[in-house]
Amino acid sequence: MSIQQIFSLCGGVQNIARVLLPDDKLIIEVKHDVEEPNAPEFIKTIEVQGETQLVFRRPADLTFDEALALDQTLAALQKHRAKAYQTPIESEWRPSWHISPPIGLLNDPNGFIYHNGQYHLFYQWYPYGCEHKDKHWVLLTSDDLVNWTWQRVALTPSAWFDSHGVFSGHSVSQGDTLYTFYTGNTRIGPQRDRHTTQCVAIAKGDGELVKQGPIIEGLPPGVTEHIRDPKVFKRGELWWMVLGAQTTELQGRLAVYTSRDLKHWDYQGLFGQELGDFGYMWECPDMFELGGQDFAMFCPQGIEFESPYHTIGHHNGLAKAQFGDEITLELSDFQALDYGFDFYAPQTMQAPDGRRILCAWMGLPDEVDQPSSDEGWAHQLTCFRQLDYRDGVVRQYPIRELESLIETQQSVVLTEALHDVGVQSFDLSLTLEWGQSLNLFEGDGHQLVIKANAETHQLILDRSETLNRAADVIREVDIDTDLIELRILADTSSVEIFINQGQYVMTSRVFTSKQSTCMSVLGGDVNACLKTLKAPKAPFANEATA
Ligand code: FRU
Repeated sequence: MSIQQIFSLCGGVQNIARVLLPDDKLIIEVKHDVEEPNAPEFIKTIEVQGETQLVFRRPADLTFDEALALDQTLAALQKHRAKAYQTPIESEWRPSWHISPPIGLLNDPNGFIYHNGQYHLFYQWYPYGCEHKDKHWVLLTSDDLVNWTWQRVALTPSAWFDSHGVFSGHSVSQGDTLYTFYTGNTRIGPQRDRHTTQCVAIAKGDGELVKQGPIIEGLPPGVTEHIRDPKVFKRGELWWMVLGAQTTELQGRLAVYTSRDLKHWDYQGLFGQELGDFGYMWECPDMFELGGQDFAMFCPQGIEFESPYHTIGHHNGLAKAQFGDEITLELSDFQALDYGFDFYAPQTMQAPDGRRILCAWMGLPDEVDQPSSDEGWAHQLTCFRQLDYRDGVVRQYPIRELESLIETQQSVVLTEALHDVGVQSFDLSLTLEWGQSLNLFEGDGHQLVIKANAETHQLILDRSETLNRAADVIREVDIDTDLIELRILADTSSVEIFINQGQYVMTSRVFTSKQSTCMSVLGGDVNACLKTLKAPKAPFANEATA
């Protein structure tokens, strides 16, 4: 029996929600129940998370190309379905210049790259609710990193190797060909066993990504199915693929494969042992050179924090990386990239002028219950940040292109009296002395407090008087300077605080009333430079508004 005949027993291609091909089986999840097929290939019906799956014997003559062709049919249907979810829903929490999903849930930035004369940025998206399910990739493009155009839903969970999520990854630009590496995530059977493969999709002339299938199947020795988020880069003659991995002893590590042609990959080993017991899983690695030093950036999960206020085990940061003569890698001096609440899965890209530019998910795994979720969308990306490494210090700055959004600029003296800015989207620069506090998003019973605590010499970010629903409300960072220089970007439901010229950063989503547009300083007057920011041309980076 051909696969087309099996599809028609399942109510036709329109009725197919997912296809899986584990071992010698073909499993089809249907949208609407059908009569049990009366065919020798049919084995049984199973229920998986409330959905019906029909299990068949895999047709013996099913070729890889035939299966990929079916994937394209399902992908077209899934992309068509997602089209109805591309118009941004109105929301009082909607940022005016950060990238947010039109509806549904956004998480990691993916495939961030300058390609064919344009910045390309993909992100993880689940259109059909504020939950972590069946991830798609959205593609946005830009000429200036400020005005973004929604291009399309680039990848959907349509294939047997990624049917439960086209997970995160990076892109490589070769001439006018874009190679996009990602992790295919599938769950098999009622027990939902996870199966992970590393996959590639290639875009040529017209820019449409075409899936080529898995390039790495099976697991390296001593690694669980938690191995994902490929970063691919070239060193000398060899391409390297670095993956976030979990060992069978539940230690987070980096797994490395190498290739000469981007197609055939050889496993080289696990790296990062020198960091010891450093979380149970490392996600979303990136590797790059900055100011003559190689760095590995990744997100270790499960590290406990000393601070009683910090209860979330999702960390972010970068370590110095030392490449050996053979294919080896040593990590040292791990440091956090962001000391706030909402910063995860950062990716970097090299701009044509050589700048290393970072963008991260302004959100955290497991946290979806926020006021915007009531309106049908969750999370946003951070602003684009230039990374520098000088005199042993890694710094982050908002990219200079953001200056094109300045609408008004004024010098203000901030005092205990409320200064009403009238808007919640601004770029504020000032210097605090120890003992002073800056209140932002103030009014209507809300405020976000940034306090220079003279006793502990810590800058404290306190979001306890906002509508934020996450458990943690306080973050702190140790500062050893006499004065604390701040540059703060606020955008309706977020704040990014760059401290002492980007040596530290604190990022948070901030949910307050629309009327909370005031600011004040306690503990002495402060001169500040206040710029209000306007929305870019396509504020939601969405087709409907572009
Ligand atoms: C990080 C992450 C990645 C994974 C993706 C799935 O936020 O868990 O490891 O590829 O999200 O959406």
